Amino acid sequence: MAITITPSGQLFGASVTGLDLTQPLSSDEIASVRTAWLKHHVLAFPDQAMSDDDLEQFTLQFGPFGDDPFIAPIPGRKYIIAVKRVADETAPIFAETWHTDWSFQATPPTGTCLFGITIPPTGGDTLFANQHAAFDAMPADLRARLEGKMAVHSAKGAYSPGGFYGNDDKGRSMDIRPSDEAEATFCHPAIRAHPETGSLGLFGCAGYITGFDGMGEEASNDLLMDLYRWQTRPEFQYRHKWQKNMLVMWDNRSLLHMATGGYKGHDRLLHRTTIGACVEGNL
Ligand code: SIN
Repeated sequence: MAITITPSGQLFGASVTGLDLTQPLSSDEIASVRTAWLKHHVLAFPDQAMSDDDLEQFTLQFGPFGDDPFIAPIPGRKYIIAVKRVADETAPIFAETWHTDWSFQATPPTGTCLFGITIPPTGGDTLFANQHAAFDAMPADLRARLEGKMAVHSAKGAYSPGGFYGNDDKGRSMDIRPSDEAEATFCHPAIRAHPETGSLGLFGCAGYITGFDGMGEEASNDLLMDLYRWQTRPEFQYRHKWQKNMLVMWDNRSLLHMATGGYKGHDRLLHRTTIGACVEGNL
């Protein structure tokens, strides 16, 4: 079977056919997928009836498993979490804010794999925002304000006991485990070169970024909000529509992403792994 890569027709994103992801890929196939991934940032593989073993096997072809804190893995697995919502759930939708996965870690995951198991008939799209495009088109004054800045990242606002998920009292089907460990901080450059392609881009956004190192609170918040308004603009986005048995892999080093709602009354279930960095520096 020949691999076919079809661009989404939006700013970025592509679908990949001609591979059977229930089988190990050849080294040429892995190299082709990796090249396409670096070019398109989000790859969707439709019609892949994958088991959890297959999902793990696919992930490990692109790096080690990432370290996924604060969310318990599904029973019997160490590295798969369920992104899950049941039809009558009233808790706020998981991850419905822009972020890049686990950017508060010293070495955040290079990518994320998400496999569609139960997909609602409408809604539940995932949005992505291309942070190279946002950087390239950025007004010179905003770019000058960001240059040389180190952004302080923390999971505190989301996963500390007093954070967004720590205060979940409405019942949630996902097994989120808030912890004091979320108070930790780690700095990354606000503008950085993609470790594999060298393309400059913005890394992270308000949410996990809590401020900029060495700046006063007011100036730091102003910059964070100006950055957020710019980097999440619709012209930098790709809207992903899910299908059952579709695997999606995205590049956390190039993108922000967020979940969306619009499927009240329907279940939604996806299984997720993260691809850890092969070496220090996020490759
Ligand atoms: C995530 O951020 O991993 C979840 C995305 C989604 O549910 O669409």
